[in-house]
Formats: sequence, C-alpha cells, structure tokens
Amino acid sequence: MAQSKHEKIERNVFLLIVLTLMTVSVGGLVEIVPLFFQHSTMKAIDQKGNELQVKPYSPLRLAGRDIYIREGCSNCHSQMIRPFRAETERYGHYSVAGESIYDHPFLWGSKRTGPDLARVGGRYSDEWQRVHLINPRDVVPESNMPAFPWLDRPLNDDIQAKMRALNKVGQHKYSDEEIAAAPAELEGMTELDAVVAYLQGLGLALQNVR
Ligand code: HEC
Repeated sequence: MAQSKHEKIERNVFLLIVLTLMTVSVGGLVEIVPLFFQHSTMKAIDQKGNELQVKPYSPLRLAGRDIYIREGCSNCHSQMIRPFRAETERYGHYSVAGESIYDHPFLWGSKRTGPDLARVGGRYSDEWQRVHLINPRDVVPESNMPAFPWLDRPLNDDIQAKMRALNKVGQHKYSDEEIAAAPAELEGMTELDAVVAYLQGLGLALQNVR
C-alpha cells in the first residue's frame, strides 16, 4: 500500500517537528496579535463599547499600589471577578480588560485566601481600612489576615522615577508638570495613607453596574 502524505509526515520526526512548530506559531499569532489592536483590551471601555471612567493612578495611589505588591497582598487577594453568578452576586460586575489599562503589572491573580478586591473601593470607610490593616481582628474578629502595623510610617518613595518608567510602558503619559508636582503630593503621607488611597479607588468604574 502506498504511503499516504500524512504517514510520511508522521514517520519523519524532523518534518513533524517543523510542521508542528509552524502550526503552533500561526495559531499563537492569530490568538495574540489581535489583542494589541482590539479596542476592548486597549481602551477604557466595557464589553459593549461604553466608555469607562478609569483614571490613571495619582502619585499617592501609585505609591500605594507598589506597597500592596511589596507586602504580598496579591498572594491572598485576587483582583479579577469572574463572570459567574456566585461571583457577581458577591463582588459586583465582573472584571473587564479595559479596567486594567493603567496596571503595569496587572494584579489579577487567581489565589484567594481572602476576598477578591477588584471592587473594594468605597465599600468601607478610610478609617475602617486603616484599623483593618493595622490589626484585622479589631474589625473582623474571625479574620486570619496578617496585621501590617509597620505601614504606619512615613512614605518614602522615588515617585518621579516610577512615573517616568510608566511613561515608557504605560497607556497614560504623565506630563512634566504632573511629575514635578508628585513629591509635594506625597509630603507628610504615611504608607498606610497610600495603601488606603489605592484600595479606595479600586473598581469604581463599573461599581454601580450590575
Ligand atoms: C495571608 C493572606 C492575606 C494577606 C497576605 C492579606 N490579606 Fe487581606 N484578607 C485576608 C482574609 C482572609 C480576609 C477576610 C477577613 C477580613 O476581612 O479580615 C481579608 C480581607 C481584606 C479586606 C476586606 C475585603 C472585603 O471585601 O471585606 C481588605 C481590604 C484587605 N484584606 C486588604 C489587604 C491588603 C491591602 C493586604 C496587604 C497589605 C492584605 N489584605 C493582605 C487575607 C490576607
């Protein structure tokens, strides 16, 4: 019986490898490249194309975000509400890509020891957040979240360098005036102030949408 074309490929390891790599790379390109041009991943809009009120990070929130990363908050908290009833009932509207356009790196995560924080902004008062971070047990007696008492210390942040770095990779370009004014905005602030400001701005864009 004559060898079919398919058999020829399957019997020749090198040909099989080359053709597999070609197929996988075409498949990869087709999946990945459009995301760089698709409006719903590159612009602050929701799935229906409506504009979202997503603001670039203020210097204080930017500093808070970095402390959030430093303290490993994202090891226990995701920022990604999945589009399932059980999730949207508890946390609110599911997360959409356009909400994360200013996030470098993004903090979506999937590990949840604590609740998802994608829409925690405004859920509690600033004071609640402060007390909770210094000792979670003071407001949630059964909490097993670690305490972060050391956050109540002066904020020391090279914010201008961070803003310039984000200008290279980010969607938002901070102006020279914004960068020049940033250190004054952080003057007299504590790390706790920065983390609370960061948390209070999370997920506001779709917070009242169900
Ligand atoms: C070891 C896991 C762990 C780490 C690390 C952690 N948390 Fe939590 N977090 C929890 C748990 C569990 C809860 C639920 C109990 C509670 O409210 O304290 C929680 C609750 C919260 C809540 C309230 C959420 C809600 O919707 O009620 C906020 C806000 C929060 N954490 C912020 C932070 C921040 C900011 C950090 C980093 C400084 C952090 N967490 C680090 C486990 C963690």
